[in-house]
Amino acid sequence: MGPEAPGTGTVADRDEAEEFLRRFHTEQPGSPVPFRLRLEQVRAAIDATGTYRHTTAELAHGARVAWRNSSRCIGRLYWNSLRVLDRRGATAPADIHRHLCTHLRQATNGGRIRPVISVFAPDAPGRPGPRVWNEQLIRYAGHRRDDGTVLGDPRTADLTEAVRRLGWQARPRGPFDVLPLVIETFDDKPQLFELPKELVLEVAITHPDVPRLAELGLRWHAVPVISNMRLRIGGIDYPLAPFNGWYMGTEIAARNLVDDARYNLLPAVAACLGLDTTRESSLWRDRALVELNVAVLHSFEAAGVRISDHHGESRRFLDHLAREERQGRTVPADWSWIVPPLSGGITPVFHRYYDNVDQRPNFYPHQ
Ligand code: ARG
Repeated sequence: MGPEAPGTGTVADRDEAEEFLRRFHTEQPGSPVPFRLRLEQVRAAIDATGTYRHTTAELAHGARVAWRNSSRCIGRLYWNSLRVLDRRGATAPADIHRHLCTHLRQATNGGRIRPVISVFAPDAPGRPGPRVWNEQLIRYAGHRRDDGTVLGDPRTADLTEAVRRLGWQARPRGPFDVLPLVIETFDDKPQLFELPKELVLEVAITHPDVPRLAELGLRWHAVPVISNMRLRIGGIDYPLAPFNGWYMGTEIAARNLVDDARYNLLPAVAACLGLDTTRESSLWRDRALVELNVAVLHSFEAAGVRISDHHGESRRFLDHLAREERQGRTVPADWSWIVPPLSGGITPVFHRYYDNVDQRPNFYPHQ
């Protein structure tokens, strides 16, 4: 993501449209409609209606290039194999929910996780596209207690309160309660939808040689599906375009379960390992962190759920960079996001700098 988000006007940006079409025709030659003709069509459509409609091929390529341009993502080597589901025709919240369920099913694929994006209707003049309030399709609730502490993921505490105000009645059961989705469209009020249980693949966390770790009852969901970024292609905004890859272990075991403002579990893990937590210089935090990462990789692998480790993923990212450079393309990258939050200096991505430029198509956070 670049430092500056583009405008969110619902009128398509002409220059961006032209630049995208030019790039599309260079990168994907052999299109049935020649470039000049397509340019005329799009200009005429923008003049007449304020916007234009991407062809299926433009949409698919645009979504893939948006991934290729995502400077925070280390996993971009496979950008060109992203599966693109064209859901622009879905308008009713119940239809959107049905397509999101299909997305989860196809992405999860019984554990052999596949990168998928579902693209819903774009913003158009006088008619903004649909949105989902959740930052990911699968997230755990953060139930705020009276004393201000949170049961579950503190990151979702506000969203959890918001879904309660919308009528979510589920009793807090534990730290890993899956939140319902909030789907908002132009024609309807925000609506709640539960995800069918069988669509939410989760992995219980165990350690290969520390049986006590299982007693913590930790788990995580198999698929991260980001649902709160808008996809911008050729001057058009798609406010709902949920996408997923598979996890890199550190996302779960060095951040989600570990950050102070998330599950904050290092003390509990250190207790399982019997570490001396009275002095920082025992490096109990670091040792607990490594063992938790071992546990998450081990558990996903044992469950047959695709996951990668930060060493392999770092090497693949540098392969990607070299391959893109051979194509004459810049790979925008944000060092602070690319370098893994564990063992940074022993991964090759640490030892260099990157250009971090805002190239479109891309994904942007909602304002
Ligand atoms: N870091 C986020 C999480 O822990 C997921 C971001 C996307 N990650 C991915 N592997 N595609 O849930």
